[in-house]
Amino acid sequence: MRKTESLSDLLVEELANLLDAEDQLIEALPKMAEASQSSALKNTLGSYLEITREHIDRLQGIFSNTGQTPQKSNCKTMKELIAESEDVIKKTEKSQTRDAAIIWVAQRMEQYEIAEYKKVREHAADLGHTKIVELFTKTLNDERAMNFHLNELAQGIINIQTIDPKDFDRQQGGFYIPKEKFRRGGIKKKNKNTDVSRFISEGNPNLENPEEQGDLS
Ligand SMILES: [Fe+2]
Repeated sequence: MRKTESLSDLLVEELANLLDAEDQLIEALPKMAEASQSSALKNTLGSYLEITREHIDRLQGIFSNTGQTPQKSNCKTMKELIAESEDVIKKTEKSQTRDAAIIWVAQRMEQYEIAEYKKVREHAADLGHTKIVELFTKTLNDERAMNFHLNELAQGIINIQTIDPKDFDRQQGGFYIPKEKFRRGGIKKKNKNTDVSRFISEGNPNLENPEEQGDLS
């Protein structure tokens, strides 16, 4: 494996990792949309797919403008999130419960993307790549808008009255999380960024607060 020798090398690796994450989404999002019951969720995932294509074009444009060839990368975080989406689809029928679980995973995908693009944008700014900063500001705006839209959808679809209570465990504070059988790799309950309860709790004010959604800008 080639050694990372400079901050510029590191930036190129980060870009390649993002490109791989976006590429993986191109495969996964249509399957998630197909498995969804709600047409609103299908449409949202369709929009997520469209912005993902634009983000790939943007990343490829950066590589071609800088004369770099993206190294083969394997974004393990996105791979794991996609495996989670496949897991919940396998373990549920087409239902609001499945939609709730799909939204949960889609939001985690978005939050991962937001965190990564913010990190890479800061890194690019440190290295004086103003064009990359500009492009990633556009991408971040798309990602934040999609995250917001998923939140809205979660509040519309995921009403605690309509969820089958058998599929969820009630946690302290009245929050609900999917039962163990719907989870993969465990949920870090102390970490708000990975806690599904935020998305399905009744009237949880954190849904309105981007700081609580893993986006700390
Ligand atoms: Fe993206």
